[in-house]
Amino acid sequence: MSEELVDELANRIKTMYGGRYQHLIRDLDTFHIGRDYATNVLLAKAKDALYDSPQKILEFGSGVGGTTRILAKRYPAAEITTVELTPESIAYNKRTTDSKNVRYICDNILNMDDFLKTETFDLTVCEECMCHIPNHSTLIKKIYNHLESPGVFAFTDWMISNRVNDQEIRQVTEDWNFAKMDSRKSYTEMLEKSGFTVKIVENKSVEFTKKDDGITASLGEPPLQIYEKLINPDEKTWDILREEILRFSDSLDLPEDIKQNEELLQQEMEKLRKMYIKTDYMLYLIWQNRMEVSLIIAQKT
Ligand SMILES: C[S@@+](CC[C@H](N)C(=O)[O-])C[C@H]1O[C@@H](n2cnc3c(N)ncnc32)[C@H](O)[C@@H]1O
Repeated sequence: MSEELVDELANRIKTMYGGRYQHLIRDLDTFHIGRDYATNVLLAKAKDALYDSPQKILEFGSGVGGTTRILAKRYPAAEITTVELTPESIAYNKRTTDSKNVRYICDNILNMDDFLKTETFDLTVCEECMCHIPNHSTLIKKIYNHLESPGVFAFTDWMISNRVNDQEIRQVTEDWNFAKMDSRKSYTEMLEKSGFTVKIVENKSVEFTKKDDGITASLGEPPLQIYEKLINPDEKTWDILREEILRFSDSLDLPEDIKQNEELLQQEMEKLRKMYIKTDYMLYLIWQNRMEVSLIIAQKT
């Protein structure tokens, strides 16, 4: 991908994640499948692959900071650097992560050589950001170079299974500004080619979605039915959307008179419905084993 296209993609990602409803899906706290449960699983597995407690940690694609907050609690003595592209998200993370040991960098992780210079880390973590990166092997090489020996790169991400078709990949790629999707196998090959020893590769789709209580829980049905209800909303679906908007009107910075202004309320409900449709499509693909959320732990020895 040319530099211009990489910048254009970064701008689209910023606009998307800076948008009003992006983080509502996860109660404004995390933006990945499995929420805190997934983060704790990832960090526990990373710890098993580390020799000592990490002194320097790099996190990227940190969004509104769910992972940063857990890292800061788990490793209060470590220096944590967190890198995020979207200014609104990094501002939210700063406001809500009450910790002096976190350094915030609002930049593209692909530019890490420029802003980190020769800095190295014991542990690099990321939850659901690799899918936005156009060239995984380029970034993996950079991550490797910025790790100590020994060091660990631990991540979870959306990956493709061999059941997915081109149309489905196109749909999620467009909906979510994904740049490139890889499989467990292709990630493993890239990591090994860069010098990593791959310690753990696990499909966590079922385990993590069970722990997730977004719209799936509020509508209480499997993704396909929810998807259909969102496409052809009945009264109950509109009621749920209305409740969500009103419940979060303060955190979403909606005008105070939204409760009285039916037209405005309808417009916001429609925006939220569209957001839920594209989220639910992803859950539907997981449900069908067409895509997966997987976890990888790679070690630099
Ligand atoms: C699915 S969200 C995950 C956020 C967070 N890790 C979490 O689990 O709550 C992906 C995040 O990656 C960020 N991102 C995407 N591409 C990036 C890049 N090239 N450099 C830094 N951050 C990026 C997005 O802005 C977004 O906040």
